[in-house]
Amino acid sequence: MESSASNESRPLNVVIVGAGIGGLSAAIFLRQQGHHVTLLEQSRFANELGAAVHLAPNANGLLKRMGLDAEKTGANPALRMTQYLPNGKVLFSLDIAAQGKIWLHKWLLAHRVHLHQELKRLATTPDGPGKPATLQTASKVTNVDPNSGTVTLASGETLQTDVIVGADGVHSNTRAKIPGAEGIKCFGSGKSAFRFLISRDAALNNEETKKFAGGEGEMGMIFDRDRRVVIYPTSNNSLLNFVCIHPTAESEVGEAAGEGWNQVAHKDRMLEVYKDFDPSLVKLLAMADEETLKVWELLDMAQLPTWTEGKLVLIGDAAHPFTPHQGQGAGQAIEDAASLAVMLPLGTPISEVEERLKLYEKCRYERASKIQEYSRVSGRDLGDGPPLDAHQYASYNFGHDEWDASSQVLRNHLASRAPGMYLRNPIGFGPMPGPRQSHMGVSRNGSQSMFTTASIKFATSRTVLQNLLPTSEFSFASPGTIAYATFSLSSLSNLEWLGGRGYSHFGLYLHHVKYQKPDAEPVIGAYIPVLFENLADPIMSGREELGMPKIFSELDVEKGDAGLRLSAGWMGTKFCDFSLSGLSEVSSAADETGSDQKPFADQGQLWYKYIPSTGSTEGKKRDADVEYAVFVPYAADHGVERKVVKKSKAGKATVSFEKGSWDSLPTLHHIIERLSEISVLEVVDAWIEQGTGVGDVRSAKRV
Ligand SMILES: Cc1cc2nc3c(=O)[nH]c(=O)nc-3n(C[C@H](O)[C@H](O)[C@H](O)COP(=O)(O)OP(=O)(O)OC[C@H]3O[C@@H](n4cnc5c(N)ncnc54)[C@H](O)[C@@H]3O)c2cc1C
Ligand SMILES: *[C@@H]1O[C@H](CO)[C@@H](O)[C@H](O)[C@H]1NC(C)=O
Ligand SMILES: *[C@@H]1O[C@H](CO)[C@@H](O)[C@H](O)[C@H]1NC(C)=O
Repeated sequence: MESSASNESRPLNVVIVGAGIGGLSAAIFLRQQGHHVTLLEQSRFANELGAAVHLAPNANGLLKRMGLDAEKTGANPALRMTQYLPNGKVLFSLDIAAQGKIWLHKWLLAHRVHLHQELKRLATTPDGPGKPATLQTASKVTNVDPNSGTVTLASGETLQTDVIVGADGVHSNTRAKIPGAEGIKCFGSGKSAFRFLISRDAALNNEETKKFAGGEGEMGMIFDRDRRVVIYPTSNNSLLNFVCIHPTAESEVGEAAGEGWNQVAHKDRMLEVYKDFDPSLVKLLAMADEETLKVWELLDMAQLPTWTEGKLVLIGDAAHPFTPHQGQGAGQAIEDAASLAVMLPLGTPISEVEERLKLYEKCRYERASKIQEYSRVSGRDLGDGPPLDAHQYASYNFGHDEWDASSQVLRNHLASRAPGMYLRNPIGFGPMPGPRQSHMGVSRNGSQSMFTTASIKFATSRTVLQNLLPTSEFSFASPGTIAYATFSLSSLSNLEWLGGRGYSHFGLYLHHVKYQKPDAEPVIGAYIPVLFENLADPIMSGREELGMPKIFSELDVEKGDAGLRLSAGWMGTKFCDFSLSGLSEVSSAADETGSDQKPFADQGQLWYKYIPSTGSTEGKKRDADVEYAVFVPYAADHGVERKVVKKSKAGKATVSFEKGSWDSLPTLHHIIERLSEISVLEVVDAWIEQGTGVGDVRSAKRV
């Protein structure tokens, strides 16, 4: 039922403010989902930063999913981590390549510019899935309206859109449109970082500095109490990237030249900050090129109360600025992008978009906040607070795939909107479609389904039938030793729940059986001791949802003008012959409609649900997880009206069973043997009905 106007679905128009790592990643995932994406970027990308970035397994897996192989653009695997004391002595050295064997994806060290270029290419390339994103550079966004979906550019141009993604980084403008964000500003964490790249060969070719140039993929960390130097290789191990974290007060440069991450720095200042470190390290730092040396103030921010408002959603640093101490800022922006796209598959009704944005936030908030906190803790000065558990942090950071995690959250969300859906084994795949519900929890429509039902009602011995009743709460309502029963075969076709296919069922109905619990009103109905069916699906749903005593057999039905014949068997061993012949058509309104199981004041049908418990049954006669009587009144709603279009009476009707042996019928012999004891004293009625409308027994209830 997804056709009303408010549930309109078409590719979404998405405007992304900011074409950084988060914005570009979102553009790629959203275009791959089939949406129409416009990226607005204030800069001209002329001054993209020369620095490296960690792509931990959690981020690298998502890049691979979008089709980005960072190793092909020069990202090299992180293989070893060595920590030094300020005097240059090795504290420990970890083989992270060996430890990394438990992660599906590699931990890579990428050049930011190469990563950015490749993301831009994937977002805008004409080949690849979906429509290429449109990238407008030199397009500064000055205002967004979360309710109308309007985006205003500095040029005065406006765009109207279904979704506005605020991916405008730590100094986000769009953030201001989030209610509750007013008082929340980012603030300096007290630390800044000098950043630069040098040639790794240059470091290796110098006797003094080569010890810090490391092996391939080796990260070096030199820690003092309130300052540290982190060195790692990138670009196929040809460059060394430096992050030199220190108290902000020691590098403040009066008037800022450049902005944010991009402030120019003075090399003398840096060498002064690290003057007490191992002289070979100071020598290495002195290789920095002052032209490209930058100082980056490490910013932090309190949690926003929410990341979405109306059509606006924040991702990346706009939602949660990161200090760099876990190397996860870019990774978390990429995870945000993935989660957002998962929540908006093509076909998402426009009316549900805002709810999906909330779902994205629900998915991401806890994890991003936790990693922010890990980052704060690992940025503490040495000796402040308890020692941190780096292993635990890495496991949490790396052991996650946001695409998979968000997909499950969306699935659970969709399933939870249709309360009362059946879970049936296997439950790990979500609710089970079946005769009473679609995969979306919508009731089935059996009005177009067709049935042919052939029944033989006969008189027989009550004392034989009585032995088929499951507990002493069941009995025959009449004292006489003559009882009545019906064998009935139905062939069903054009069933919606089987995609238009059909199946047959053949069962025994014992009329006028009373079920009475102490101190309760009795119910009187046609009791079903066994029902044979020739398809697994209705057997499983019928046994588990309804508790019916269904069992598999082959049911070969031949129907002609003169009669109908059923041959029931199991793996080629025939055990029942059931036939009606000498047919003559009667008015379809003749006697009771749907008369097959209705006579003798039966109020409905009765059966007994029994599910054995799992485990040892030793010493126990009977050990059930559940057992109870089930009743379905004839008068109840079965979901559809049963319409008989043709009815015939049979001049002759026979039913006989061949009990076989434990060899020929190893799983059914006990049933067939007992059915073969039922003698047909007199056929009371035999008829065939054909028509449309197959009910789903939805009103079956535990008595
Ligand atoms: C030099 C450097 C090194 C880093 N190292 C690491 C690392 O090793 N590991 C790690 O995980 N993270 C690292 N980070 C952090 C990481 O890069 C960020 O967390 C991540 O880039 C956040 O991505 P983002 O898309 O949210 O923001 P950004 O990458 O900051 O992108 C925001 C974009 O929005 C644009 N923009 C802003 N305002 C507007 C506007 N009004 N209109 C239009 N466009 C606008 C900006 O120009 C920018 O292109 C580093 C960051 C820097 C700068
Ligand atoms: C790194 O090596 C790969 C493959 O060997 C090559 O394609 C790529 O251009 C190199 N990249 C850099 C930045 O050196
Ligand atoms: C079932 O389908 C029929 C015909 O296709 C339609 O007339 C009827 O309204 C449907 N019933 C329900 C409950 O959807």
